[in-house]
Amino acid sequence: MKTKYFQANDIEEAANYLTNGGLVAFPTETVYGLGALASDEAAVKSVYQAKGRPSDNPLIVHVASVDDVRPFVTQLSSEVEKLMETFWPGPLTIVLPIKEDALSQSVTGGLSTCAFRLPNQPLTQELLSLTGPLVGPSANTSGKPSPTTAQHVFHDLQGRIDGILDGGHTTVGVESTVIEVDEKITILRPGAITKQMLEEVVDLPVIYDKHLIKENETPKAPGMKYKHYAPDVPVVIVQPDEFLEAIEYYKEKRIAVMASKKIIDTLNIEIPTFELSQQHDAREASARLFAGLRALDDSMIDLILAEGYEEQGMAIAYMNRLKKAANHQFYKKDS
Ligand code: TXA
Ligand code: MG
Repeated sequence: MKTKYFQANDIEEAANYLTNGGLVAFPTETVYGLGALASDEAAVKSVYQAKGRPSDNPLIVHVASVDDVRPFVTQLSSEVEKLMETFWPGPLTIVLPIKEDALSQSVTGGLSTCAFRLPNQPLTQELLSLTGPLVGPSANTSGKPSPTTAQHVFHDLQGRIDGILDGGHTTVGVESTVIEVDEKITILRPGAITKQMLEEVVDLPVIYDKHLIKENETPKAPGMKYKHYAPDVPVVIVQPDEFLEAIEYYKEKRIAVMASKKIIDTLNIEIPTFELSQQHDAREASARLFAGLRALDDSMIDLILAEGYEEQGMAIAYMNRLKKAANHQFYKKDS
């Protein structure tokens, strides 16, 4: 199969591939998703195949409006309606109990819930209004950094999917915040919609799923248990003021640095670098993190030194992804 690039004026053609059971990747504000009709079980199964994804990991259903969610669920609580009104379209995925048999097992992984999201990307909203609800896991090979450009998708999935709707660089860069709502809000995966932003909108306590606090707990979002976001080249996390000594420490290796421009400007040797932000900005760095991990994933490099952030606000999502990419390895002077 030859994988096509679709541009804005090819949306109808892209939609036709999808309604005929094909796979088309689409841009969102977070990362590219691998689209298939949520109502077409064979197409959904081929999504797992194309990605090499474990089949117990449920998919997010992407919708064009809140009304598109209603047929699948028993009811939407006033808190959930408030969250959708405030954060949709946007990088918030909400896990909701669904009606029995409303969606196939391949979508839900056999759970009695499903995750829904309305992405903030006009091209994809138009696509969704032509096709109806689409499943959309990140459009990478399972285990690799999520794709933030159409070219990243092509690199991983060329020949395995029908096409890619090209929306340029995504803006947020890390996947959506995933929450579950009952008498509290539980953050299953941190993202650009932070705990504080959720607390400001609804009068419910907001907590992190246990696995995000303690490493040995089993995560509630099945996908969070897998090794993820990892390039082939090992990654070590370095604090902003430790780069010079870390470079000295690893001088026998061919190292590359992913950090703020401000840090890169202080390096006194010629090595491959990737600028994550100008100063030390977690939103900017998140938008470029996966592109950086892909750019430096090169057989000429032995080790990537990546800039660490204090875990607060947006940096919680950034560090969640970076720690997985680094297999929790931090540079320490005495390591
Ligand atoms: O930003 C995003 O969310 C991107 C874009 C394309 O929308 N999509 C994405 O999908 O990241 P994926 O499949 O790579 O990640 C979905 C996460 C997984 O960790 C999965 O286990 C979790 O959401 N999830 C899906 N359905 C769930 C459910 N019913 N209960 C708990 N977790 C669920
Ligand atoms: Mg993913």
